[in-house]
Amino acid sequence: MNTVNKRGTTPNNGDWAIEANELVKNFGNNRAVDNVNLNVRAGTIYGVLGPNGAGKTTTIRMLATLLRPDAGSARIFGHDVVKEAQIVRQLIGVTGQYASVDESLSATENLVIFSRLLGLGRAEARRKAEELLEEFSLTEAAKRPLKNFSGGMRRRLDLAASLIAQPPLIFLDEPTTGLDPRTRNQMWDTIRRLVKTGSTVMLTTQYLQEADELADRIAVIDRGQVVAEGTVNELKASVGTSSLQLSIQNSKDIQVARQIVERMLQVQSNVSAEGGKITAPMKEADRATDLLIALREAGIQLAELSVQKPTLDEVFLTITGQEVKENEAKASTESHKTEEIRG
Ligand SMILES: Nc1ncnc2c1ncn2[C@@H]1O[C@H](COP(=O)(O)OP(=O)(O)O)[C@@H](O)[C@H]1O
Ligand SMILES: [Mg+2]
Repeated sequence: MNTVNKRGTTPNNGDWAIEANELVKNFGNNRAVDNVNLNVRAGTIYGVLGPNGAGKTTTIRMLATLLRPDAGSARIFGHDVVKEAQIVRQLIGVTGQYASVDESLSATENLVIFSRLLGLGRAEARRKAEELLEEFSLTEAAKRPLKNFSGGMRRRLDLAASLIAQPPLIFLDEPTTGLDPRTRNQMWDTIRRLVKTGSTVMLTTQYLQEADELADRIAVIDRGQVVAEGTVNELKASVGTSSLQLSIQNSKDIQVARQIVERMLQVQSNVSAEGGKITAPMKEADRATDLLIALREAGIQLAELSVQKPTLDEVFLTITGQEVKENEAKASTESHKTEEIRG
């Protein structure tokens, strides 16, 4: 059992930061979260990937003690989110807290207040505020009242505020949705730095590229259910087929090369129109080694060989039957609101 002080202790790597067991949440007749199981190791970045309305936010709200599950259970560093909610709250940070940030105060003042509330001394609070404003490129805007901040600036201040306590587990609900590419990259760097300094991060995203960039493991959720789980590489491998591309030095060898490819990979291949290139589907990328040996034994010289893994987009499409489009993500917040009102 972990001992917990006011600002939370940093648990050992390898512990479970999150264990969710058959979580369920219904909104009327709508089962928003449908028996979700998730296990997240401390010290990692875990991505929850899914389209708008999949149940990502509802799942996070249950894990963060903001919403009571209808069924199932969850533990944060071993502590039950319902029975030990007070302890869990000291171990986590959740973005989306700017409801409690004062609009008429400046960014610096807000961060200092948060720091003092968390028990930091006056000088330490000011130092922390300055450090975070620097980190989030908000130094120039630091003295302005919040009501003059853009959406992106607010998002960054919000994340900064949630990081004052440096909680062992940080939930980031679509941290980069609607941000410009530069700010998004900055956010990614910050998230990586957090994990390097010992935190665990669970983030939700509709961006496949974001999950690919950041996450050690990913759960794909669709209609309230986990439909796939694993490392990025495992998910790509589960869809199976990489694509092999082979160019050979001497075009008179093409037919022999093609026969070898088909025999080694047990598939049909294609030869490009110009005749120099062979392409073939490839289930296991490590068959490439055997293929290279066979080609060399046959005295065939290669000009080029590449194996292309499937993209996460292909994975997502295969699993859920729907595409996630980058430009839809921005509109999602709006349509989400409408859904909530209807629901
Ligand atoms: N407070 C709420 N009241 C009623 N329905 C809700 C509420 N929050 C979410 N929902 C519904 O639950 C489903 C999952 O929503 P949500 O968890 O917000 O998905 P995501 O975060 O993946 O977009 C949606 O159908 C949504 O309309
Ligand atoms: Mg959401």
